[in-house]
Amino acid sequence: MHQYSQGKNTTQGHKGIPQDHFEEEQGRGGFFGPASHLIKPQPSTRWTMIEGNLKPHLYDLVELKKPNHQWQRMFYNADVGLYMSSVPVSAPGEKMRAFRNADGDTLYFTHKGEGVILTEYGLLHYNPGQYILMPKCCTHTFVARTQSEFLVIESKSSSYREPDRGMVGKNAFYDPAAFGKPSLEELHALKKSQSLSVVEVHAKRSYQMTRFDYDSCVYDTVSWKGDFFPITLHIKDMMPMLSARVHLPPSAHTTFVAHGFVVCTFLPRPLESDSDALKVPFYHQNIDYDEVLFYHDGNFFSRDNLHAGMLSMHPAGFPHGPHPKAVKNVGTKTHTDEVAVMIDTRQNLEIDSNLDSVELKDYWKSWMAK
Ligand SMILES: [Fe+2]
Repeated sequence: MHQYSQGKNTTQGHKGIPQDHFEEEQGRGGFFGPASHLIKPQPSTRWTMIEGNLKPHLYDLVELKKPNHQWQRMFYNADVGLYMSSVPVSAPGEKMRAFRNADGDTLYFTHKGEGVILTEYGLLHYNPGQYILMPKCCTHTFVARTQSEFLVIESKSSSYREPDRGMVGKNAFYDPAAFGKPSLEELHALKKSQSLSVVEVHAKRSYQMTRFDYDSCVYDTVSWKGDFFPITLHIKDMMPMLSARVHLPPSAHTTFVAHGFVVCTFLPRPLESDSDALKVPFYHQNIDYDEVLFYHDGNFFSRDNLHAGMLSMHPAGFPHGPHPKAVKNVGTKTHTDEVAVMIDTRQNLEIDSNLDSVELKDYWKSWMAK
């Protein structure tokens, strides 16, 4: 489609929005497809009633029951499953078990806690803000030094890959050199110093568990080679992209890509400095994607009454953007200090009934002027 316009417009989206007006982007293809910017005297989030299922959702996962070593399912479709998982402190001498996911790649995002992960490829370390990318069928065991909590993002129809970085080059956002790699030396040193032996493997396939017992430790690899192995990536090694002149779309913060969804990481960064640049996320309809946002840490200034450990879900089909208070307060802000993980899915997400008891049912009213 060619570009067309009606009325008086600027030549750059998210910039020079007329005083007391709002811009709404309506776009296909997750900020990559055809898109238009509509200028309106009031935002489209000024609804007075929403009747039906197509509502934005907010959940307080701090209150969600997270049984140890079990994944609590939250959302799912054919491509992706989203869960919370909890791992208790490993007690000395405790019988440990290994886990293998035969349903897909597992991307853990560490919300709380620190420790190490035993794998057949070596030892990995984790602490808050760490992604752990465990390829399909990679056997692993968490050894938690402190009670740990993870957002679990399961890719069911493809492996994860790095985002295409296009004209900003292969070292943009994060340098692939920053990936944490497994160490066999550290694995064997830990096994020896703590007399660790894992002889029980639980494998998940088609959401059913199968147990394999051994009479000696499964973490016995003496050497390996290849390009299939688990890695980690920490938010401290991510360099958020920004433009001083214009607000970049969420896709600029893409961390991993898989079939049917993307994972983005929003990190602290200075706000745009041009006086006519929009400084809060723009109002938009991300027409082709459902959006899940997990609030990990910091001060979530673009929304009201949020705290770390909450999660919002904005299904495709309704406009959204910052809360009215954020729009009012933006003049005093020079930077954001929020850390959040977003999962945008191409196919509609189903919501697990696990979440019913921790939903804040009036979330859809939070955009209405108070
Ligand atoms: Fe959105």
